[in-house]
Amino acid sequence: MKKLNVLVVFGGKSGEHDVSLMSAASILRAIDQEKYNPIPVGITKDGTWKLCNCTIDEIESGSWEGESNLLAENMKETPKISLLPTEKGGGFIQTPNGSVEEIDVVFPVLHGPFGEDGTLQGLMEMMDLPYVGAGVLASAVAMDKGMAKKLFEADAIPQAKYVLLNRKRYFTEPDRVLQEVEEAFGYPVFVKPANLGSSVGISKAKDRGQLMVAIEEAAKYDRRIVVEEFINCREIECAVLGNDEPIASLPAEIIPSHEFYDYRDKYFDGTSQFVIPAEISEEMINTIREMAIEVYGLLDCTGLARVDFFVEKETNRILVNEVNTMPGFTKISMYPKMWEVTGLPYKELISRLIELAMERYEDRK
Ligand SMILES: Nc1ncnc2c1ncn2[C@@H]1O[C@H](COP(=O)(O)OP(=O)(O)O)[C@@H](O)[C@H]1O
Ligand SMILES: [Mg+2]
Repeated sequence: MKKLNVLVVFGGKSGEHDVSLMSAASILRAIDQEKYNPIPVGITKDGTWKLCNCTIDEIESGSWEGESNLLAENMKETPKISLLPTEKGGGFIQTPNGSVEEIDVVFPVLHGPFGEDGTLQGLMEMMDLPYVGAGVLASAVAMDKGMAKKLFEADAIPQAKYVLLNRKRYFTEPDRVLQEVEEAFGYPVFVKPANLGSSVGISKAKDRGQLMVAIEEAAKYDRRIVVEEFINCREIECAVLGNDEPIASLPAEIIPSHEFYDYRDKYFDGTSQFVIPAEISEEMINTIREMAIEVYGLLDCTGLARVDFFVEKETNRILVNEVNTMPGFTKISMYPKMWEVTGLPYKELISRLIELAMERYEDRK
């Protein structure tokens, strides 16, 4: 059988650029070379697409960009590329020196806005190309905490109480907005920009003064802001894989080292603990797996997603926190690890995701 050309797209304009480099490097190291011919394409932080003729180590370290390499003599010209749709569907990439490569399937390894949020997925739809992961709608809704919460609510999925604020309205009539939050639930509260990840712009507020600071911080990142009741909880995650008949992995637990699982904890200190599989009752494991699949279907996810839960310590209530349609994907990231302990090794997981992309594409034709 002909090897499939897999365009592995990484980097991107989001705050999770560097995480994406690590995820992509892991995927490139492990992808089944018998079946696939990976073509690495990086998107710089300013949004330029480049074909990488470099080592995987250079992708991981960020030096693939060429310009970012401080040693001028080592600077290499990384060709910019164009994506060209073809008449018969599908597409190829073209570099300025004229070389072309046909693309069979795209693996977007992009976390956060401009990649995980339906934007790249829309481009792939226009190109008529199969791609790994969720489609336009599921990607966009899962990325937007406000929208996702509205949908959970409509389907009676248990979640923390929340208020969705508009930035403009807050700055116009702050007292009324603050009062609305205070009437909805007591302090402490969590304040988050609707459309972001990696805990950026998120803070915990213990009184009105802190709430005002927190809203102003979140307002730097988005027009819409979610304020949520604080849940004293254990954080449990579950990996889901599939299209029409998704399956859920054994759940895992994250024990943050800070007051909450913040940006520092995720990417700098790295002292959070991960317990895989989570040490929770059999009954809770089953409920979480069922809920993960339900939420996955509700948002119309395909390919993969990690569904994150809060389990309230006092009551054992299981609440859905959020869905990530392109979770961290290094070999030691939660999503692949959960599959590994459930019996699906990393390399096979990558192949399965590409197969699911092809199946979804055929199905939609
Ligand atoms: N309502 C809440 N109660 C308690 N902790 C929360 C709440 N919301 C968020 N957190 C903490 O903040 C972290 C980041 O919030 P989350 O909504 O998952 O945003 P992100 O998309 O950035 O991961 C969570 O992992 C958790 O530690
Ligand atoms: Mg999260």
